[in-house]
Amino acid sequence: MNFLFYSAIGRQGKTTHAIGYAQYKRSKLYTNDLQNATKELYGDMFKNGDFVEIGIGKQIEIDDSDNIVFDFGGYIDSRLVDVIKYVDACIVPISYQSKSEYIPAVRTINALAEHNKNIVILINNTATKLIPEVKEALEETFPNYPVFVVNSSRYISRLANYQKTLFDLLEVGDGLEKHRINEVLIPQIKTFYSHLDNISSQVHYD
Ligand SMILES: Nc1ncnc2c1ncn2[C@@H]1O[C@H](COP(=O)(O)OP(=O)(O)OP(=O)(O)O)[C@@H](O)[C@H]1O
Ligand SMILES: [Mg+2]
Repeated sequence: MNFLFYSAIGRQGKTTHAIGYAQYKRSKLYTNDLQNATKELYGDMFKNGDFVEIGIGKQIEIDDSDNIVFDFGGYIDSRLVDVIKYVDACIVPISYQSKSEYIPAVRTINALAEHNKNIVILINNTATKLIPEVKEALEETFPNYPVFVVNSSRYISRLANYQKTLFDLLEVGDGLEKHRINEVLIPQIKTFYSHLDNISSQVHYD
């Protein structure tokens, strides 16, 4: 199974969730996020050859036997179109604060849907009081695409320091924080992952 985490704009949570899911699935990770030192931050969490940087213009080599999680941002060029068509699902994270994230997310989803209808929306790192309005708006605009939520958590923002995966969050925190992680974050991540785990058929069209 192959998955693409994509948003046209930055800071939505592509890398965070691509790394987390790739670790969980023991998949390879292909990233075009060279800007944020992704390799320096997370490369050591992967075994040799499983962390692949895709520079500008670099050919994307896909072996049919591979399980790959793609962490991609930027323009949808012909190289990226090939990836969009290839993957089993495209996950679009949105870290919602205002129309500044909402409108690009809608455009992103429509652009992806030209090539792959298996789209999953992830409301990520969004103020709790804003989650219902953005969830409702997305579900109304895209009734066919599931919408998941992963709350904002300072443990998630520190994962690079811990060299841990999202599930390893269970190991950190104490007292009230541990309770919040166990009762809220972990169930959210499990619900999201189990949807991805259950995607079996490719719903593609050209
Ligand atoms: N649920 C969350 N709670 C708290 N912080 C988060 C959460 N998700 C992501 N972050 C933080 O938000 C920032 C942006 O996330 P990330 O780097 O994954 O986004 P991105 O879409 O890959 O950005 P870019 O386009 O720049 O590559 C990071 O500092 C990350 O640690
Ligand atoms: Mg990134």
